[in-house]
Amino acid sequence: MDVKQRIAHLRGELERHNQAYYVQDSPTIPDAEYDKLFRELQALEAQHPELLTADSPTQRVGGKVLDGFVPVRHAVPMLSIRTETDTEASGAFNFDARVKNALDTSNEIEYACELKFDGLAINLRYEHGVLVQAATRGDGETGEDVTQNIRTIHCIPLHLRGCAVEVLEVRGEVYMSRKDFNRYNDRQREKGLATLVNPRNGAAGSIRQLDPKLAAQRPLSFFAYGLGEVQGWQLPGTHSAILDAMQSFGFPVCDERAVVKGAQALAAFHQGIAAKRDALPFDIDGVVYKVNSLALQKQLGFVSREPRWAVAHKYPAEEQLTVLRDIEVQVGRTGKLTPVAKLEPVFVGGTTVSNATLHNEDEIRRKDVHIGDTVIVRRAGDVIPEVVGVVLERRPADARAFVMPTSCPVCGSHVVREEDEADARCSGGLFCAAQRKQAILHFASRRMMDIEGLGDKLVDQLVDENIIRSLPDLYRLDVVTLANLDRMAEKSAQNIVDALQKSRDTTLNRFLFALGIRHVGETTAKDLARHFGKLDSIMQAGVEQLLNVPDVGPVVAQSIVEFFAEAHNREVVQQLRELGVHWAEHDGVANQVLPLSGKTFVLTGTLPTMSRDEAKAKLEALGAKVAGSVSKKTSCVVAGAEAGSKLDKARELNVPVWDEAALQVLLANNGEGFAA
Ligand code: IVH
Repeated sequence: MDVKQRIAHLRGELERHNQAYYVQDSPTIPDAEYDKLFRELQALEAQHPELLTADSPTQRVGGKVLDGFVPVRHAVPMLSIRTETDTEASGAFNFDARVKNALDTSNEIEYACELKFDGLAINLRYEHGVLVQAATRGDGETGEDVTQNIRTIHCIPLHLRGCAVEVLEVRGEVYMSRKDFNRYNDRQREKGLATLVNPRNGAAGSIRQLDPKLAAQRPLSFFAYGLGEVQGWQLPGTHSAILDAMQSFGFPVCDERAVVKGAQALAAFHQGIAAKRDALPFDIDGVVYKVNSLALQKQLGFVSREPRWAVAHKYPAEEQLTVLRDIEVQVGRTGKLTPVAKLEPVFVGGTTVSNATLHNEDEIRRKDVHIGDTVIVRRAGDVIPEVVGVVLERRPADARAFVMPTSCPVCGSHVVREEDEADARCSGGLFCAAQRKQAILHFASRRMMDIEGLGDKLVDQLVDENIIRSLPDLYRLDVVTLANLDRMAEKSAQNIVDALQKSRDTTLNRFLFALGIRHVGETTAKDLARHFGKLDSIMQAGVEQLLNVPDVGPVVAQSIVEFFAEAHNREVVQQLRELGVHWAEHDGVANQVLPLSGKTFVLTGTLPTMSRDEAKAKLEALGAKVAGSVSKKTSCVVAGAEAGSKLDKARELNVPVWDEAALQVLLANNGEGFAA
């Protein structure tokens, strides 16, 4: 195979996998394989720039930054459609009546029903099967050339499958899925950066981005729903057949569509989609009905630049304005404090909303939300409603800024916020009532204390009726108390008491995991148990000692220290032990005397063959401590290429300096004979 053939082969393969992944949603090869093919193509194109073409999959990553967008005159104007704002069935009946009237018929009309996607309309122009231009709708006559940005959307074919006609313009909607939108915003929030107001703005903003590399970072998708200019292609007779053809050319066409007859069926489609709306993976603002026959469409024609053969039938808006009466702080299951907007009740996305999340303190500042403001509330899909913006010009004179409380509104414990974290937390842990239910469920779950039968309904009752005030109260439950609860027979009460009894015999790692210490998951709990062997050693350990546990970093170490520093957490542990919760203990790796126990190493610079992590792990396995900075107590500094200030410091303090070869000898001797 020569280079040209290889390039063609790679492009074909990459586009095929791309289609499978982004259009059919069924990946054909692992990501790593795809990346390999992609890099091979990139390398070949770099060596043979004369063979690079605009429709190569490598061109999806985004090209040069633009100065501005070039205007594009549409060959066929991009019209809009009339909207039935009536969200009741009558919208469907009104449209059908108008169509029948205009056609002067009483026969039932066949309609193609589709979703009305809430994104940005785009015209994609293919010449001889290759994408040559993508343009926005603009004013309908003239749009803007956004080809570079459109190329970064993976589900848009760069060339068509089995279609090389002279001109084919495909129209459709670029959108951002709810999942991509939420993920994007979560990341932005974590980084303390601005979030997108809604997926539509996300899509429109990325497409109108002058730097295609930035556009490429925003995950967008596309659905085809119509045609523009067509030359050299014999159109099928119906709109639904056009959609089928577009699908066969490689375009994503939404599956939620139907061909129906008569007004009743239109109304049923509208209703059926309304019931599914929240569960859809993307936002829609209505459905669209189109007369299916192209011949009838032609006969119906246009009124004032709107086709008489199509209509959009709306749903209740997913964004509404309302007044923010107050901001309350809710305590979540991990102690996270979430500011919640108390709203003037408003009908949004199909339900009445009076609470909405404001996420965190920084987000309130960034959005400049004040109590008393008129705010934009969004409720879309099954995510909780959120305040996405403020109407500043409606701010009243007495509007107040929000202040995060310094003590937990539920239990009064102090509120902490790490420097590099967006969320404020209640430090109350197991003591905080709001966290108690969640903590109990966590404690009882299968991989922890494994208390069978202790489900959320029962925990709700136990906490609400104040029978359980803290974890140890679980082990004070008896059959009589349990059998007195709602929907609890004596038999089930006995089962729970038995399950509790069984759970008393546990392991240190399960118990540690069950305590619900922040950042201590199953693996960390196991590492801690193996390293220390005894709970008391862990409770007494300082940050430095905890850092000696493999994979425990400063954040985890700090969290463990803080947890056991709270007196009530220590009290809970002690009571649980007194109530018979037990496990086997051992001396732990930390206390075994290993060849390098008590020695501290510092690694600096790039070692010739080992990574620093690898060297660190091997030294630690022999009992050494590996520290980040050089002091008088450092036993040895191992320095590689480009070692900087640590090496200078070692020389200044007369600490021995080794190279990797010397370290290798020590490791080969299992740490024996280290004299420094
Ligand atoms: S057909 C001549 N079908 O709604 C008919 N439009 O006013 C052209 N839209 O901004 C439009 N989903 O981007 C059509 N399934 C769909 C649609 C749809 C969303 C948008 C379109 C335009 C507006 C129409």
